Amino acid sequence: RRLAVLASGRGSNLQALLDAIAAGTLDAEIVGVFSNRLNAPALERVPAALRWSRDAKSYSPREEFDAELADAIDAVQPDWIVCAGYLRVLDEKFVERFRGRVLNIHPSLLPAYRGLKTHARAIADGVAEHGVSVHFVSPELDAGAVIAQARVPVLAGDTPDALAERVLAVEHPLLVQVVRLAVAGRIAEQGETVVFDGHPL
Ligand code: GRF
Repeated sequence: RRLAVLASGRGSNLQALLDAIAAGTLDAEIVGVFSNRLNAPALERVPAALRWSRDAKSYSPREEFDAELADAIDAVQPDWIVCAGYLRVLDEKFVERFRGRVLNIHPSLLPAYRGLKTHARAIADGVAEHGVSVHFVSPELDAGAVIAQARVPVLAGDTPDALAERVLAVEHPLLVQVVRLAVAGRIAEQGETVVFDGHPL
């Protein structure tokens, strides 16, 4: 199965996928890494031939970037598109074009804390638990059907960075696990729900 990965930053989630593929525990191939930032460190994790990046900020209107990105993704014919730390909203046209094949990892227990700065907001609210979700991407930000979540405790005296690190440690195995299910054809999006092995979750 062919994977296209979208990443904006460091790319540790991309690395988790690469490591699982190298270890033989994920039956997939990364066929392209796509970024909205020209020099995203994530790009360096794959051979130059697999990298595509453009400075999204230089596009106007913004939809032009998403259209070009979509064409570049289509060119590598992926089975699945994985947003792994992709910090830019995908426009509706993009989402509709690939609907049902786009996964996103979001560092919160959705539906709580959509959007940015999830760790700081969880601490400010004094919640006891925080975590990460992998979901199908739908046109509304961080609102698609949730496939799986992993939880961590919020500890007394936590800083956003300390909490982010604790969450990241569970992000990597969760993302690999969900992508494994995806490439095995075991999960599908049906309307607003996830179907697992033919049964609605
Ligand atoms: C992760 O916490 C991801 O969930 C979030 O941004 C971070 C990216 O980390 N959306 P990395 O680029 O995969 O290292």
